[in-house]
Amino acid sequence: MVCLPTSHSARSFKLPTSMLLLGLAGIAFSTSSFSAAFTPLWETLPATPHLPGTIGTGYVNTTEGASIWYGVFGRELSETARRGGTPVLFLHGGFANSDYWGYQIAALNDVRRTILAIDTRGHGRSLDGTELEMTYDLIANDTVAVLDHLNVSKVVVVGWSDGGITGLNLAMNYSSRVDRVFAFAASYNPDNIPDSIVNSTVFDAFLSRSMTEYTVLNPEPAHFPMFEQKMNAMWSTEPQWDAVSFAHVLTPYASAEAPLIRIVDADHDEAIALTTPLQLQEWIPASGRTILPDVSHFA
Ligand SMILES: *[C@@H]1O[C@H](CO)[C@@H](O)[C@H](O)[C@H]1NC(C)=O
Ligand SMILES: *[C@@H]1O[C@H](CO)[C@@H](O)[C@H](O)[C@H]1NC(C)=O
Ligand SMILES: *[C@@H]1O[C@H](CO)[C@@H](O)[C@H](O)[C@H]1NC(C)=O
Ligand SMILES: *[C@@H]1O[C@H](CO)[C@@H](O)[C@H](O)[C@H]1NC(C)=O
Ligand SMILES: *[C@@H]1O[C@H](CO)[C@@H](O)[C@H](O)[C@H]1NC(C)=O
Repeated sequence: MVCLPTSHSARSFKLPTSMLLLGLAGIAFSTSSFSAAFTPLWETLPATPHLPGTIGTGYVNTTEGASIWYGVFGRELSETARRGGTPVLFLHGGFANSDYWGYQIAALNDVRRTILAIDTRGHGRSLDGTELEMTYDLIANDTVAVLDHLNVSKVVVVGWSDGGITGLNLAMNYSSRVDRVFAFAASYNPDNIPDSIVNSTVFDAFLSRSMTEYTVLNPEPAHFPMFEQKMNAMWSTEPQWDAVSFAHVLTPYASAEAPLIRIVDADHDEAIALTTPLQLQEWIPASGRTILPDVSHFA
């Protein structure tokens, strides 16, 4: 004899569907194991993906002992140059590393151009190796040093959070090196970070995870406390940008060489106030803006 599962037996009653649904809803309310049945996407932190296979990796030594890791994916730089294409450069967020771009890099593997990823100084596989404070200016200069090392004159920057800030910094100071910037969840001032971030379980989960990832990836795992201190100091004081800072970005009204800029954020970003993308777009003439629905800072 076959034992029918309860749900199947329930279906054999000729109850109107609406009543059946109400009945099931009652079970969901009364049984704690059902309470997590609906968790909005923005309250979840998906597993960190893996990077697709690289076609090359290396380190570039920059200021005072920093040693910056980069990975090359997709097509060789020489092939991209021959086609007149522009490499795409991925810049991750604070405390993270390039692995967080695993899905995006894999998705671009068919576009027949070079994809680059950089681990920010002190992050992931890169060495901080310096008594210098962590600043967005140092990070921007490290990025340019890697591009110089690879003989890459221009890139498309895809940046997330601190990486988005670096994309904007490059647009301000190295306009000619940037073809376009996709700046996701960037900020212009520490005040853009809402106080309520201290209550975000997702952000908290990200920070503890990043600590574990650091000890696995970083050649100097014992440096973490110093790195964390420098990061917190940077986040509480930088960036300090306003309309005057963004006036340094070359605009399409002034030059055909101006970078195209898209300001992007998530409608449930727990780390950046949603007035931020509006303000950034207002300060960057001819920039575009996209707000991704139903996702968080970790979209
Ligand atoms: C770069 O820095 C690393 C770590 O400090 C060191 O081992 C390496 O020799 C340096 N490479 C060059 C080319 O200076
Ligand atoms: C980039 O430009 C901003 C605004 O003018 C400035 O504050 C910052 O120091 C510059 N950064 C670099 C790396 O030159
Ligand atoms: C970044 O590089 C520029 C150009 O070489 C230099 O003027 C500036 O001082 C550098 N900034 C930092 C923080 O290293
Ligand atoms: C960059 O160009 C220089 C000079 O042309 C060359 O020596 C060097 O090997 C090139 N580097 C790379 C990574 O292709
Ligand atoms: C954090 O959550 C607690 C408890 O709900 C609340 O009292 C507090 O105001 C929240 N803090 C911030 C900064 O939002």
